[in-house]
Amino acid sequence: MALLTVEDLSVIYAQRSTAVRAVDRVSFTIEPGEIVALVGESGSGKTSVALALTKLLPMPPAAISGDVRLSGTSLLDATGDTLRSIRGGTISYVFQDPATSLNPVLTIGEQLVEAIELHTDARGREAKQEAIRWLQRVGIPSAEERLGAYPHEFSGGMQQRACIAMALASRPALLVADEPTTALDVTIQVQILRLLRDLQRTLSLSVLLISHDLTVVERIAHRVGVMAGGRLVELGAVEQVLHQPAHPHTKELLRYRSMMTLKREGKR
Ligand SMILES: Nc1ncnc2c1ncn2[C@@H]1O[C@H](COP(=O)(O)OP(=O)(O)OP(=O)(O)O)[C@@H](O)[C@H]1O
Ligand SMILES: [Mg+2]
Repeated sequence: MALLTVEDLSVIYAQRSTAVRAVDRVSFTIEPGEIVALVGESGSGKTSVALALTKLLPMPPAAISGDVRLSGTSLLDATGDTLRSIRGGTISYVFQDPATSLNPVLTIGEQLVEAIELHTDARGREAKQEAIRWLQRVGIPSAEERLGAYPHEFSGGMQQRACIAMALASRPALLVADEPTTALDVTIQVQILRLLRDLQRTLSLSVLLISHDLTVVERIAHRVGVMAGGRLVELGAVEQVLHQPAHPHTKELLRYRSMMTLKREGKR
């Protein structure tokens, strides 16, 4: 059975006189241990899909319809404590800008321990040991000493590693990573992606990866969906979609990528 099943998901944002249909009847599944990517131009509805999964959108103005199931359990029907334990627990998020995800007045250790105590059975010393293990797993050197550091004492790449540790410390079934490397410079991007892929393999985690970077997607995703104007216009295996695109929007994205690659190579 699929881990995540999304059926006819729609998101409408009410505005003064009109309504924007940001997500229009989107359906897809994610299998256990699978990385599914969503790509598409800016404003095509990728983030809205990601946030709608756990109703993380402000309602109103947003209205969500359709059916989202995690291991068969409806997420859109969930409320209260059930919804809170799903968010950041069973489904956890990593966003583009690590600085906004971290609390500036708490140390990295305090935030990690809090996430661990909230979502697992570990407490006190045990939670602290677990926090150290997570920092080590995401490749932060001298993890034990680093527990006492504040977010601003970390570089951008290290902050994103800490966010990934925090997202995974709750032992989610699904990690939603929305442009996780966009704010980072290129060498750090590669390291973070490698880390995500390794963690996905060792933890057999399912990942919904949102990116506008097709090279990133090609490197780590199994399947990719292409969004345009709120609709999922193409969905398939990465090799197929990126090498034999069927939809004009996908072809357009690929043309844009080759143009950018040529530009970059021209600069060298
Ligand atoms: N809170 C909101 N209120 C009204 N409209 C919104 C809101 N959030 C998003 N939208 C609109 O919904 C559409 C989809 O936005 P969304 O952020 O999901 O796109 P995206 O694919 O993630 O774009 P990007 O690549 O720029 O991150 C856009 O037209 C956007 O302007
Ligand atoms: Mg977005």
